[in-house]
Amino acid sequence: MTIISPTETVAFLDLAAMHAPIRDQLTQAWNNALTSSAFVGGEAVDAFEKQWADYCGTAHCVGVANGTDSLELILTALDIRPGDEVIVPANTFVATAEAVVRVGATPVFVDVDPDTLLITPEYLWSAISARTKAVMVVHLYGQVAEMDRIVAAAEAANIHVIEDAAQAHGATFNGTKAGAFGVAGSFSFYPGKNLGALGDAGAVVTDDPVLAEQIRSLANHGRGSHLLHTAVGRNSRLDGLQAAMLGIKLRHLDEWNRHRRAVHRVYRDAFVGSRVKTLATLEAGEPVHHLEVIRVPDRDRLIAGLSERGVETGIHYAHPCHKQPGFSRFDRDRLPVAETAADHQLSLPMHPTLELQRAEAVAQLVLELL
Ligand SMILES: Cc1ncc(COP(=O)(O)O)c(C=O)c1O
Repeated sequence: MTIISPTETVAFLDLAAMHAPIRDQLTQAWNNALTSSAFVGGEAVDAFEKQWADYCGTAHCVGVANGTDSLELILTALDIRPGDEVIVPANTFVATAEAVVRVGATPVFVDVDPDTLLITPEYLWSAISARTKAVMVVHLYGQVAEMDRIVAAAEAANIHVIEDAAQAHGATFNGTKAGAFGVAGSFSFYPGKNLGALGDAGAVVTDDPVLAEQIRSLANHGRGSHLLHTAVGRNSRLDGLQAAMLGIKLRHLDEWNRHRRAVHRVYRDAFVGSRVKTLATLEAGEPVHHLEVIRVPDRDRLIAGLSERGVETGIHYAHPCHKQPGFSRFDRDRLPVAETAADHQLSLPMHPTLELQRAEAVAQLVLELL
């Protein structure tokens, strides 16, 4: 018997509930921005950049407009260009690959581990060629990939490690935070992320002062100084308003991530011994469960059954990148794990205000509907 009543809905994500307890602070920050008129850049951006670098354990943070631009800006600053190859896991949001194609380089898609659905050092090795310049390590679903062995492999191959940490704010591996392993880490603060703005926003973190300055300049029309444009850049700056919102929300990130872990434990324990395959957690890691991804034999039937009972779900992702029509020219190999996962994976409700009993009820409903 399930305890979800037919009239109740279980939201996939509930931003309004997350913001309700901090609404006054957000409104106050909004009012401050109106008063100061520092809408692009300014004190709030400087303050948030410092806070985010400190939080991630890196020397620098450059706020940018979104998490796709941050990837593209890193690639551009590293001078990755046409003729270069960048290794990308096939199971990721398309933005990871998009950034590579936007700089004119070639994404070389690789398969993912069957238990974590993350890139592994073995897949990385298998794709390295004389043209490889970098690997995009995606800490998908909130879990940091096996960074000790991945960084060692990349160092041995003399290629850059770029971290796409868009789904991994605060996740750690051997105690180090996502974003702090590679030459640079990229974050998205899209509203639904573990740390989300109230609109689009993103950031690059890095220990390299030269790279940080280059990215800051590229994101600000290639400025060397106010009137001097030393490079052909673009406009990808962080809004003062968004930085102010992010600064307030950052105070709650650890507590929100703790709750996500508790929700994950409820799901994981409920599915032990069932036909539901949950994601494995790497021993040295502490994930932040951006998404609660499960794999089941008949995904579409389960989604329909849950929807009928008011439980919202998502699919992350229904097509691996190399099978997306826009990327078909880069589709070179069969990548069986990513392809099979795409047919079976779905994401259950997961957010910091999801009550544990409701997660338990969703889990029981999943088991009933299987
Ligand atoms: C893994 C991954 N990479 C990159 C991005 C792109 O971020 P944004 O939407 O801020 O451009 C996202 C966001 O959806 C993502 O999930």
